[in-house]
Amino acid sequence: MQLVIHPIDRTLSVSPGANLLEVLREHDVPISYSCTAGRCGTCRCKVTHGSVLELGSQTQGTRVNQGQHVLACMSVLTESCEIEVPEPDEVVIHPARVLKATVTAIEDMTHDIKRIVLRPAKPLSFSPGQYAQIQFMPEHIRPYSMAGLPSDEELEFHVRLVHDGRVSGYIASELAVGQSVRVSGPLGTAYLREKHTGPMLCVASGTGLAPILSIVRGALQAGMTNPIYVYFGARSPRDVYGMHWLEELAHDHPNLSVQVVTTSGATGQMRSGLVTEAIASDWGNNLKDFRAYLCGSPSMVEAATLLLKQRGISPEHLYADAFYPIG
Ligand code: FES
Repeated sequence: MQLVIHPIDRTLSVSPGANLLEVLREHDVPISYSCTAGRCGTCRCKVTHGSVLELGSQTQGTRVNQGQHVLACMSVLTESCEIEVPEPDEVVIHPARVLKATVTAIEDMTHDIKRIVLRPAKPLSFSPGQYAQIQFMPEHIRPYSMAGLPSDEELEFHVRLVHDGRVSGYIASELAVGQSVRVSGPLGTAYLREKHTGPMLCVASGTGLAPILSIVRGALQAGMTNPIYVYFGARSPRDVYGMHWLEELAHDHPNLSVQVVTTSGATGQMRSGLVTEAIASDWGNNLKDFRAYLCGSPSMVEAATLLLKQRGISPEHLYADAFYPIG
């Protein structure tokens, strides 16, 4: 049985029943992965000929055919087939870990957003833009993106408190400095592509600013001189936060520009409307060489994805994580 791997055009002999990710790792095929359990999406690749069996909640598994995507870590080879792995220069490998961490700071950023800082017992290796699951209590587990840099000693998260949310209520009234939590990750595929040299569009709404801050900080720390255009959308001025960090960075790095857009009550330099309307009015159909990072509410991510594809960004150069508001 043969497995052909594109775009590196390698052909491997494989045994029926072999796990796809294990085969790729054994043969040193560059592929990103993290959780190895079907949760993070990092090992996604495309079946270009034949089919593979993806194991999931259904005991029989699901057959994934030509043209569809699979998670390599959950896939079993049952026939000769061909797959396409993401561009080799974009590979990141941070095996997912579970770490104990201590809360070192809890600060109000807005009326409903808190900044939580954790000191992990051991360093957590991740790429800017990725997220982790934080377990505050056995039943209180939520995903949050890291806002800082992998080289920081502490991990910074921005948490939006959802009205009547179980975990939000716990964070608002019980979580305290000195408390222990568990962090597992990293997860997610919307991480900074450091090899890219063209313009970057970074679009955030709400606490989607956390991974965008990490991406911007990471790009600048890595010495990337690409033009970076940040668009941050919020409902009103009282929902805008973190601008002093971006302004400082923009002051030191002329390649960074920041636009703040609010749907109501814009003041000073802020723009009115939706963040996608601001992007649509600033850019024509000339985004072919751009890479875009989108983090925030599902409606914003959906609308921005549609717009940016119409404006010429290729779908594989759009990296998105939607934040579903769960309390
Ligand atoms: Fe496959 Fe996480 S490594 S989904």
